[in-house]
Amino acid sequence: MDLFEYQARDLFESYGVPVLPGIVADTPEEARAAAERLGGVVVVKAQVKVGGRGKAGGVKVAKTPDEAEEAAKAILGLDIKGHVVQRVMVAAGARIAEEFYFSVLLDRAERSYLSLASVEGGMEIEQLAVEKPEALARVHVDPLAGIDAEQALAIAKAGGFDDERAAQVAPVIAALYEVYTGEDATLVEVNPLVLTEEGAIIALDGKVSLDENAAFRHPGHAELEDAAAADPLEAKAKENDLNYVKLDGEVGIIGNGAGLVMSTLDVVAYAGEAHGGVKPANFLDIGGGASATVMANGLDVILGDAQVKSVFVNVFGGITSCVAVAEGIVKALEILGDAATKPLVVRLDGNQVEEGRAILQAANHPLVTVAAGMDEGADEAARLAAAA
Ligand SMILES: Nc1ncnc2c1ncn2[C@@H]1O[C@H](COP(=O)(O)OP(=O)(O)OP(=O)(O)O)[C@@H](O)[C@H]1O
Ligand SMILES: [Mg+2]
Repeated sequence: MDLFEYQARDLFESYGVPVLPGIVADTPEEARAAAERLGGVVVVKAQVKVGGRGKAGGVKVAKTPDEAEEAAKAILGLDIKGHVVQRVMVAAGARIAEEFYFSVLLDRAERSYLSLASVEGGMEIEQLAVEKPEALARVHVDPLAGIDAEQALAIAKAGGFDDERAAQVAPVIAALYEVYTGEDATLVEVNPLVLTEEGAIIALDGKVSLDENAAFRHPGHAELEDAAAADPLEAKAKENDLNYVKLDGEVGIIGNGAGLVMSTLDVVAYAGEAHGGVKPANFLDIGGGASATVMANGLDVILGDAQVKSVFVNVFGGITSCVAVAEGIVKALEILGDAATKPLVVRLDGNQVEEGRAILQAANHPLVTVAAGMDEGADEAARLAAAA
């Protein structure tokens, strides 16, 4: 999960990383009030989870509250690479003497952490890496040893900082590493880290990505989620602990086991070519148990997708028996009642398949077709979607 700059700023502050005061604003009037509170020169900054805000007109200096209001007016609603600005941060203005770069991230290939540092900031890091690779230090960090004061100093020196500046920057590097490990982040980036005219080192911009696999260790992280940006169907699925990903097609998919669901997507996409190009509408893995509740929740999410015209349930009974799955489907349709409106093609195989099919046949639900196999089921679901 990527954070907004203002969220990264708050995290930095709580770990003792030097930052400037910043106040978020959702309207130009709020931006004016924020500028009044901060006093002096401020910078109005678009809060979007995409790089290159400055170049896109999303970062503006304002000398007065009037100017801050004007700047917010110009920035709010701006489309930056497909991200529409809903909120700005009004930050105290720094008098910048020099700009530097620092980041720490997960290096999966090396099974390690990697820190990047450069005394030459002020340009995009990708550009620096290409044009002046020698100016960008790449130092691996042993996750067990971390970055202590000594290691922080070594990183700063490798990044080209002279002794005096390195000594000044090192504690900030160490604190940023504390953010990285303390919050289970996969990226902490500061671009630019600046030296002010007054001689202070300040993190003027922050990008943080949190590892969602560690969410259970951080109850506070849930609050950082951007509920407004989440797909409503995905949000609903998440509430019900379903592994659901919305796709752009017409055939809803339910399966058990990620591998089977992925091959189902392929088979449906292939079958769809013969039926006007219909495609799978989602990935949904209901996992092992496949109880009636899970099946009902899954169907509920899929039927809530207006694009869906038919549903293909493809379950292989391994440990779970097809009897339980079939009963789950019948009960789920009972639970959903009139909310179930689209044709359902069910393919069952594996453990107790005959008994499972018999249950579906006996229930004789008008929306349900039992398919002989995976290919037949995919073809039938695609046909129904195309005909709808
Ligand atoms: N609080 C501030 N005071 C003075 N100048 C600032 C302040 N914040 C940003 N700037 C200036 O604006 C430039 C761009 O800001 P920032 O790094 O936050 O955005 P960006 O780099 O354009 O966006 P992104 O990091 O998303 O690519 C900085 O390099 C800095 O020169
Ligand atoms: Mg930046």
